[in-house]
Amino acid sequence: MRPYTNGGTPVIEIMGVKKIYELGETEVRALDGVDLKIFPNDYVAIMGPSGSGKSTLMNLLGCLDTPTEGHYEFGGEDVADMTDDELADIRNRRIGFVFQSFNLLPRATTLRNVELPLVYAGIQTSKREEMAEKALEQVQLSDRIKHRPNELSGGQRQRVAIARALVNNPSIILADEPTGNLDSKTGEEIMELFDELHKQGNTIILVTHEDNIAQHAHRCVRLMDGKIESDIFVDKDEKALE
Ligand SMILES: Nc1ncnc2c1ncn2[C@@H]1O[C@H](COP(=O)(O)OP(=O)(O)OP(=O)(O)O)[C@@H](O)[C@H]1O
Ligand SMILES: [Mg+2]
Repeated sequence: MRPYTNGGTPVIEIMGVKKIYELGETEVRALDGVDLKIFPNDYVAIMGPSGSGKSTLMNLLGCLDTPTEGHYEFGGEDVADMTDDELADIRNRRIGFVFQSFNLLPRATTLRNVELPLVYAGIQTSKREEMAEKALEQVQLSDRIKHRPNELSGGQRQRVAIARALVNNPSIILADEPTGNLDSKTGEEIMELFDELHKQGNTIILVTHEDNIAQHAHRCVRLMDGKIESDIFVDKDEKALE
């Protein structure tokens, strides 16, 4: 086990982050003092038992949620000081999010689902279609643009979700259990897609419960009870994840 190190400048840095939920008398410390730096072109697997805070961390990293305590810096700037427009820009253009349950609009076609972030970004229709088609090409779904989600296989749905995350060319891709609902062969295909995106220079952070999925990453962060238990290089040759 080699502790993860990186001499570069982090693109994301969180410091002393806590997320505490108060439910009546009980308090849930979903994150309990997390320090984490994400560097450009990192390929990180976030692991840990159910309830350890993985999704909470991903939502914070993706600026979909705010911490109860602590700091978040994106590109060296404190997110707490950002305007709503600046935050929306990070969410729309800098970070792409892939969810386990795909979160596609059931009545919309593949093309319209992928276009959605561009609608929010205020991009005009013709340009939107062109960008969505390009993203769908990247995930090899050009022949399914008119299908609706229920006319697609699970792996294809996940690829639509990945195309949607890619359509704005974000440099950072966050994926919360992207292979959790897929059989192992389809899961491997999705991972090959992430490997390719990583090769192209993207930063990838994904949550997984499976060692063979985590083996695709270069870095593995383990959470336990809302705290980072370990942060190591993934050694491809040894069984470094044990
Ligand atoms: N909205 C909420 N209100 C109260 N407690 C919450 C809320 N969201 C999450 N929690 C609690 O915070 C803890 C961390 O949840 P989180 O979803 O981050 O876990 P996880 O590591 O992603 O688990 P899993 O592997 O099951 O997806 C859990 O104990 C959960 O019950
Ligand atoms: Mg989760």
